[in-house]
Amino acid sequence: MLASKRILLIIGGGIAAYKSLDLIRRLRERGAEVTVVLTKAAEEFVTPLSVSALAGTKVYRDLFDLTDEAEMGHIQLSRSADLVVVAPATADLMGKMASGLANDLASTLLMATDTPVLLAPAMNVRMWQHPATQRNRATLAADGIAFFGPNDGDMACGEYGPGRMSEPLEILAAVEAHFAEGPLRGKRILVTSGPTHEPIDPVRYIANRSSGAQGTAVARALAELGAHVIFVTGPADVPPPAGVEVVPVQSAREMADAVQAALPVDGGVFAAAVADWRVVSASDRKLKKSKDGLPVLELAENPDILKTVSRMEQGRPGLVVGFAAETNDVIENATAKRLRKGCDWIVANDVSPATGIMGGAENAVILISDAGAEEWPRMSKSDVAAQLADRIAAKMSG
Ligand code: C5P
Repeated sequence: MLASKRILLIIGGGIAAYKSLDLIRRLRERGAEVTVVLTKAAEEFVTPLSVSALAGTKVYRDLFDLTDEAEMGHIQLSRSADLVVVAPATADLMGKMASGLANDLASTLLMATDTPVLLAPAMNVRMWQHPATQRNRATLAADGIAFFGPNDGDMACGEYGPGRMSEPLEILAAVEAHFAEGPLRGKRILVTSGPTHEPIDPVRYIANRSSGAQGTAVARALAELGAHVIFVTGPADVPPPAGVEVVPVQSAREMADAVQAALPVDGGVFAAAVADWRVVSASDRKLKKSKDGLPVLELAENPDILKTVSRMEQGRPGLVVGFAAETNDVIENATAKRLRKGCDWIVANDVSPATGIMGGAENAVILISDAGAEEWPRMSKSDVAAQLADRIAAKMSG
């Protein structure tokens, strides 16, 4: 619940502004007081009348509206909120924020505020991927601005890719997570989960038996302790948990890119069963049976995501946790893996078919750290997740 929380919602000028109308309703349903600022461009997409009807208050539009200055100056407006949400955050607004421009009400409020700011970007895929936008994103993240999304998907402009604003319920979950009490409140934690699919041709792929159950449970447990979780998931059998930022991917290389895009983070849990190899030149046409013999699939090694993050020289997350699925000599193999990858902890488990762990509801893990190996009793995957989240919280706040 968001009872009596004061949210200042800045709506930028993009087609996704229509979703912000629903966001206002959802926030108010949960008890939040919502004050809305519209940029000039936003007024091309939603009307001040519909916004104020939904918000139940006056809408703020102009920096030089003297009545507003008499009622509530822009400085006070920027500081009277518990959280500032910018949705949609356009490329233009991000650019202004990153370079410290303040030439209208929205950008002035964003410079004047001392309140935490959450951005939900929305723009064309190429604009999102443009080096200038990515530079601005990194600058703003380093300034302590939180991001939520964008999601992958079909765009109003007919293209496909990252750039869609997160759905109102997802943004709502992020707002609730921001206010959640818990030892991980204010921490940004990345979780990878699920298998990856490595394409052979448009209809066939290489995969593994990971269901994503353990990674999903870890993400849920961390969010319950108040963390902002960025959940990068391959095609899993189980649905993603509520209250986390979901980044769906297919292949290992997509997962590596999504992980890079999520940085910087305070911690990372790499529970995904990433395929070690991909097919070098996946065919863009379905391979056919041929009298000339069998197709030969040449394999290349995938990037090792855990190792790359663990060995970052700058901006390495404070705690990096890997998983090790082993079928024999679990402690020896996992201990060597911890050193090889350079991560802080390894959660090791025996996935021999007889254990029923891969794809099952239970897990029996050994936590390997610089203090040695600690065997946990067999328990449900959600209990393993809760215990691991508690340990992560203790480490991060210690
Ligand atoms: O080397 P191995 O696959 O056994 O290592 C397992 C750990 O490394 C897991 O935490 C897994 O998520 C991570 N990993 C990765 N990228 C890869 C392979 C594994 O992040 N390409």
